[in-house]
Amino acid sequence: MRRACDFLVDRFLARPVEARVRDALRLGAYQLAFAGVPPHAAVSETVAVAPRRARGLVNAVLRRVAEAPVDWPDDATRLSVPDWVLDELAASLGPDRARAALASMNEPATVTERADGYVQDPASQQVAAAVGARAGERVLDVCAAPGGKATAMASTGALVVAGDVRPGRAALVRANADRVGGPGRVAAVAADGTAPPWLPGAFDRALVDAPCTGLGTLRRRPDLRWRVERSSVARLADLQRRLLLAAADLVREGGTLVYSVCTLTRDESTGVDEWLAAERPDLEPQPPPPPPWEPWGRGAILVPQAAGTDGMCLFRYVRRPARAGG
Ligand SMILES: C[S@@+](CC[C@H](N)C(=O)[O-])C[C@H]1O[C@@H](n2cnc3c(N)ncnc32)[C@H](O)[C@@H]1O
Repeated sequence: MRRACDFLVDRFLARPVEARVRDALRLGAYQLAFAGVPPHAAVSETVAVAPRRARGLVNAVLRRVAEAPVDWPDDATRLSVPDWVLDELAASLGPDRARAALASMNEPATVTERADGYVQDPASQQVAAAVGARAGERVLDVCAAPGGKATAMASTGALVVAGDVRPGRAALVRANADRVGGPGRVAAVAADGTAPPWLPGAFDRALVDAPCTGLGTLRRRPDLRWRVERSSVARLADLQRRLLLAAADLVREGGTLVYSVCTLTRDESTGVDEWLAAERPDLEPQPPPPPPWEPWGRGAILVPQAAGTDGMCLFRYVRRPARAGG
């Protein structure tokens, strides 16, 4: 809630303050406005840890923050996101749903543990289930680290080849799969999904759980909003297109390809799918999962406010024989 806290205190600051004083003011404002800490405790405890020479200032500012009514200048400040994040989600979901999504993601995340002990958001569990892996099948997880979906798919008894471009992250998949155990097998491999080392048609199913801006996971990664850049949307959408195009060839005819992202921008979901529809008419879209998922172009979206999960988009296709000349 950094931006919101800064707004609350800046109303009462005449000039810039040094970083450690700013930290104390943010901490105090957070306790007052968002954590439900009684005002006397929030002010006195914060003053006690502020740099000694700034204690008078911190005390005076926080007392005023505690008392003054708040008139937010705009929704992005109130929701404490960069302007572009609200703009991007509003363009994608509409303004009301975008505000509701961000408000929902400012609430603490619940912890959901699978039967095998792996902690995984329900939305991610549903994406893994949507791949439909079965015992004895060969399933490719193109972007697998840290291995949440790979281990879930392997729990059906499938062989999951779990690739990730970064060797250290592929090792993380290995470690997580060993820890979780289960009936299936996970083969963790360092591999670039845009230039995959696998034979065409080698897999019954493939999942591209693609690198994305992650704007559906702000509940779990609240600081992400300050690190991700607007220019990443287009860059990552381009990477997603290349990953999907490569993965489509690796699925056998009649096999299933799933494309998912844990973000809510159109460029990284329906935009990529529209491109894929033109590029690969042999990929036949499949019906969306049941509510709380909602239809989203040819796929589905789960907005965070629908069920208190991460926000995700999901597209499922079956590969049909390519028509001659098509
Ligand atoms: C959204 S995360 C995957 C999460 C994972 N499926 C899970 O459920 O635990 C995306 C991953 O893609 C990997 N990645 C990025 N570029 C890639 C590429 N060209 N080929 C394969 N993996 C890539 C990143 O290292 C990151 O681990």
